[in-house]
Amino acid sequence: MIQVAVERPGTVRLAALPPLALYVHIPWCVRKCPYCDFNSHEKHGALPEGAYLEALFRDLEALLPQVWGRPVISVFIGGGTPSLFSAESIDALLSGVRARLPLAPGAEVTLEANPGTVEAARFRGFRAAGVNRISIGVQSFDDRMLAALGRIHSAAEAAGAVETALASFDNVNIDLMYGLPGQTAAMARCDLERALGFGVTHVSAYQLTLEPNTVFWSRPPPRLPGHDLAADMQLAAEQTLAQAGYEHYETSAFARPGCRCRHNVNYWEFGDYLGIGAGAHGKLSFPDRVTRHARAKQPASYLKPQAPAEERVVPAAELPFEFMLNALRLVEGFEARLFGERTGLPLSTVERQLAQAQSEGLLERDWRRIRASERGRHFLNELLERFLVDGNTARG
Ligand SMILES: C[S@@+](CC[C@H](N)C(=O)[O-])C[C@H]1O[C@@H](n2cnc3c(N)ncnc32)[C@H](O)[C@@H]1O
Ligand code: SF4
Repeated sequence: MIQVAVERPGTVRLAALPPLALYVHIPWCVRKCPYCDFNSHEKHGALPEGAYLEALFRDLEALLPQVWGRPVISVFIGGGTPSLFSAESIDALLSGVRARLPLAPGAEVTLEANPGTVEAARFRGFRAAGVNRISIGVQSFDDRMLAALGRIHSAAEAAGAVETALASFDNVNIDLMYGLPGQTAAMARCDLERALGFGVTHVSAYQLTLEPNTVFWSRPPPRLPGHDLAADMQLAAEQTLAQAGYEHYETSAFARPGCRCRHNVNYWEFGDYLGIGAGAHGKLSFPDRVTRHARAKQPASYLKPQAPAEERVVPAAELPFEFMLNALRLVEGFEARLFGERTGLPLSTVERQLAQAQSEGLLERDWRRIRASERGRHFLNELLERFLVDGNTARG
């Protein structure tokens, strides 16, 4: 349980409900990567695509009474490796979603695709099914780095996947990781330049983190770059991408103008989202409360008709921290009014913490916006801790 440093936060009162998105989790991968703590499971044999679609629709239908009439602004099919599903299954998934929920006109529909699992016909099928944005987990264009990360694909296959995706989609993101075992600043820059060479609309650059319950956590790889070198790589990424015309809009996200990921921006602005699929979680707002829901993590349990699900009301005392955990990741921060709109609490609830963080140089504000300073972004956990009383660290 998180304890939050706000004095007796009042009753939650939301004047209007936030935008609503839909996250769909596909939990299987060809092989589990040694650094990955996502809910992903090695596939053995054929995937139960039909049974999984049925479970997803059951799951969605159980949530529908809570969101009647609300349009969905974006869909994100993530994993795991959603591109292991056939184009026919993705088509059936999106048709089933559209039959049950009103998709807003022009809704962003993203699918995560892994090199080594996609060919041109499959990408064309995804496009025909209504996917309009592809996110490719490249990680690196260096075979030595890919081997160190235990990826199933080569650099050439990664480049081939990006080119094939661009033949069917205008809106393509490349995921890169930096701070990799044995990686130098020059190698990290090289990866970025390769990514930029494709002219993709979006790049996400994540520093490798060692997560509990992963192979890398129990056996860290040798020659990991130290803190200073990793920070130099982040700075170099920011400079290279800015020079190439990409806006740095969130800790790890860079986009061509007009191409920010609307689905992720909705998370960071503390919007609502339905989460369906094994291990998926969601957040929904009501006039007097904010709730979170979560689904069974193991695919076998999730597939059962009476799969266990959790739902809880977020205590009012936790809402300011949860809001900040998301909104302070945005480079431009948030409009001050958004805090009240999304948490249902007055901004005065956190006034003391905001003032303290500002005096420490971690936060900047003007009459309209509140955002982490450059220092605050680099020490995001430290900034977020200002909203906790017991020193629990938050994941940045
Ligand atoms: C939902 S994950 C997986 C997407 C896809 N299955 C893949 O691996 O290509 C999205 C991204 O998170 C990043 N990621 C996963 N684990 C990470 C870790 N331990 N440290 C930093 N980035 C990580 C990777 O760049 C990955 O592409
Ligand atoms: S392919 Fe992606 S989701 Fe699957 S194990 Fe690797 S990093 Fe995790």
